[in-house]
Amino acid sequence: MAAATAAESAVGQVRKTLSVCCVRFTYIAAFVFSGLGSSMRGPLPQVEYTSTVYRSRCQVRLLRFAETFVKEAQKMSDKLRVGFIGAGGISRLHALGYETNPYASLEAVADINEDTARSRAEDYGAAKWCTDYRDLLGDPSIDAVEILLPHDLHLPVTLEALAAGKHVSLQKPVTRTLEEADRIVEAVARSPVVFRVFENFRSYQPYIRIREMIDADEIGELVSMRYRVNRGIGVGGVEVTPESRVWRFDERIGGGPPPILDHGYHVASMVEYYFGPVSRTHAMTRAGGESPDLGASYFITWESASGGFGTWENVYSPEMLVPTSFFAEDEWMEITGTRGILWSTRCSGRMLDEAPVLLYRDGKVRRFDDMETDWGHSFRDGAHEFAKAALEGRQIDLDSESARRVLGFCLAAIESLRRRAEVVVGG
Ligand SMILES: NC(=O)c1ccc[n+]([C@@H]2O[C@H](COP(=O)([O-])OP(=O)(O)OC[C@H]3O[C@@H](n4cnc5c(N)ncnc54)[C@H](O)[C@@H]3O)[C@@H](O)[C@H]2O)c1
Repeated sequence: MAAATAAESAVGQVRKTLSVCCVRFTYIAAFVFSGLGSSMRGPLPQVEYTSTVYRSRCQVRLLRFAETFVKEAQKMSDKLRVGFIGAGGISRLHALGYETNPYASLEAVADINEDTARSRAEDYGAAKWCTDYRDLLGDPSIDAVEILLPHDLHLPVTLEALAAGKHVSLQKPVTRTLEEADRIVEAVARSPVVFRVFENFRSYQPYIRIREMIDADEIGELVSMRYRVNRGIGVGGVEVTPESRVWRFDERIGGGPPPILDHGYHVASMVEYYFGPVSRTHAMTRAGGESPDLGASYFITWESASGGFGTWENVYSPEMLVPTSFFAEDEWMEITGTRGILWSTRCSGRMLDEAPVLLYRDGKVRRFDDMETDWGHSFRDGAHEFAKAALEGRQIDLDSESARRVLGFCLAAIESLRRRAEVVVGG
């Protein structure tokens, strides 16, 4: 099995290398032909007839052929042609990623709802739309898909997309269960394409800056992390439709309480981003409000395999306004090391009027605000990263195995709520 996987991945690499060689060979051929019998120089020869520069009919034909071939090859290799599968609420933010994307263009939109498919394709400037995502998967002009579907469809549609040879960016969480995630890990290992789970907090610039400061040893060895999410009343922001709420709170579709498995997947991902894999967790909840999941507050503790500790609070304050252009959630984070402390004061919400990143070290607080803080920008950056990586055949976060580990932490926290006891992650 392992040998077969290695062989298939080697075949994928050879294919990619051959296609790059083919484009380079054509450039060289075009260059050589252009030089015959003339002093013309330049990477892409132009065909022209003048009295001073004469080329034989045969040479001109070859030049034309080379030029057309090079242009086609450039068109094919330059930009990744992407299709969305699912065009609900989150697709509006994903569409930002293709407005000025130097590496990709959005070509098609698939949604089971015809009005949604048609109108969103028009809104996002995609030339094609369909109601059956299999039409999009069968379209040879599509190189990659962004899967933006309810959680029960993540596994089947990802498997079909990989089998169709499309690069895949899958919205978080990877799946609902570890068994489902295992099937994605196995399929990705057999596939030559690029697969990543898109968890946009990892593309949020203040969080990336904090990681860079940790790597630069600004706060010494990491000791602990506190992450707080305040849910309240949104002011403005993204509309979550009634249909979208229904599947989220149906455990068979959504997979578990949204504050832990839906929004919570972002927090679990950030814990792994800074501290590596989590080894054990203990979660507590206090129910409240009309919906047992949404109305509840959660208090979760964890330990990482690297020896770090942390708390993750998800607090519901039904009478509190949360200023945001997105969802009614505000995030605050504190990471303490042996030498200093780093804070992040915002993410999708913007409750605190403070710099996005603060560093305490050597008795002084320094504020950093020289970065993009708009949370929507993380979708733009994330789409650019994915397209560039797919064109280069390079893996980016979250790979299938880290995506599975992050899910393992969320599921262990949910299991801890049920058992009212500490749970070993992945156990
Ligand atoms: N911050 C974030 O990163 C963030 C925020 C919101 C949602 N999400 C994730 O995005 C994904 C989608 O969430 P959403 O809020 O857009 O949901 P949504 O309910 O608004 O949209 C889902 C869309 O999928 C379509 N659909 C359903 N079944 C289909 C099928 N068989 N074929 C084609 N289309 C089908 C629906 O018609 C709908 O338009 C989920 O994984 C969710 O967790 C991420």
